[in-house]
Amino acid sequence: MTTATSTPPQTLDAQSLWQKDKDHFIHPFTDFSLFHDKGCDLITDSDGIYVEDAYGNRFIDGIAGLWCVNVGHGRAEIGQAMAEQATRMAYFSTFNNLSNAPAAELAAKLAELAPTNLNHVFFSCGGSTANDATVRLVHYYFNRLGKPNKKRILSRHNAYHGTTYLAASLTGIESNNWDFDTLDHLVTHLSEANLYRRPQGMSEAEYCDHLVAELEETIERIGAENIAAFIAEPIMGAGGVLVAPRGYHARMQAVCRAHEILYIADEVVTGFGRLGHVFASEAVFDTRPDIINCAKGLSSGYAPLGATLISDEIYAVLGTPQRKGGVLSTGFTYSGHPVSCVAALKNIEIIEREGICANVREVGPYLERQLETLSHHDTVGDVRGSHFMLAIENVADKTSKELLPVEARVGDRVAAEAQKRGLIIRPVGHLNIISPPLIWDRDVVDRVVSILDEAFAATTASLRKDGYL
Ligand SMILES: Cc1ncc(COP(=O)(O)O)c(C=O)c1O
Repeated sequence: MTTATSTPPQTLDAQSLWQKDKDHFIHPFTDFSLFHDKGCDLITDSDGIYVEDAYGNRFIDGIAGLWCVNVGHGRAEIGQAMAEQATRMAYFSTFNNLSNAPAAELAAKLAELAPTNLNHVFFSCGGSTANDATVRLVHYYFNRLGKPNKKRILSRHNAYHGTTYLAASLTGIESNNWDFDTLDHLVTHLSEANLYRRPQGMSEAEYCDHLVAELEETIERIGAENIAAFIAEPIMGAGGVLVAPRGYHARMQAVCRAHEILYIADEVVTGFGRLGHVFASEAVFDTRPDIINCAKGLSSGYAPLGATLISDEIYAVLGTPQRKGGVLSTGFTYSGHPVSCVAALKNIEIIEREGICANVREVGPYLERQLETLSHHDTVGDVRGSHFMLAIENVADKTSKELLPVEARVGDRVAAEAQKRGLIIRPVGHLNIISPPLIWDRDVVDRVVSILDEAFAATTASLRKDGYL
């Protein structure tokens, strides 16, 4: 989080930390035009739905850390389970026929929770490494089937799949790769499903037909024999919280299946309750992916962890040696890290024990409705998303949907105004994203919406004052 209001913390320790951070920590996704001057806000404490900065200011966490602290902050039982595991056996290899108890338990638990035929789990360190490992495994799978030309992965513009080299190449947010290289020979990007900005005059159903037709045309052009997989977030997250037209995912999957193209659901954000179910693919979108990737909410951010859930059919190939003496030579030192797996097991226990998915199904629609009430503000062009995965798109003109100039920093302005009033939301360009811990209740929603109401009013006034409206 970098806001225009950041200033060096006052206490000696905090001041020194702020300086060390500014001098030595290369922050991901940070705007250096602000960073060199303002540094970062240091978040030092957390509890439930709150976080606290180095000044002792308390904020409602409206972004669950970074779409991940699903069960909320400060869960002592997760910390305790991790401490016990770290003391008993913090780490040992999972290569070469070695394993550990938490990894075995977690793999079995994920197989139980996942759609029926996803019974095999490859562990990684987060979402990017899960996606990266997946592409490698998918290529290996088709090589083993004697179809070595099946290499290309279909992704979508504005998709976010991470920033390892392959995951960054799958990512379709153009600005994410400005002046970085991508592995373009491996990836083709289709259109994103953007209902708000769909071609004028097209109904939702026609728009869905249009997107499915684009997939069919792309397969025709590239050749199914050259395409390995299609990867999609059930709801596109960082690319703008874009909900696809009804029926889109199931139809895209049907086309893929007809052409032996694997369907990979990137559930890094949607997994573990954000849409009211442990996995959204089948429960919400009626798809049965060949592979589901998850991370973030898997451990609620208490420890780094990613997992790739693989179908029985694919495992039948991966689980056979490629040649005498051959091994499945891919994996990470920390695949199945016992402390991370213990955190995930405890996290899942909490999700189940406390009925967190049911809370999301109950409070989520209320949150959606209450956010809709902000539509009267001049800059609020679209309020969208589902359950605990929401965004507001700011515009200069609601009829033409024209955007404000980048230098107006409208998303930053709204976030800063909210933060002044005790709420952290995430600015992404002209958008503001709200992706809270899954333990918000209706009272919290009311407080949040009242803060946002003031924040949007203050933003509109400041944009007017600066001549942007
Ligand atoms: C859908 C999706 N996939 C993958 C990733 C990458 O995960 P990580 O940052 O853990 O590598 C993210 C991160 O936000 C994501 O939203």
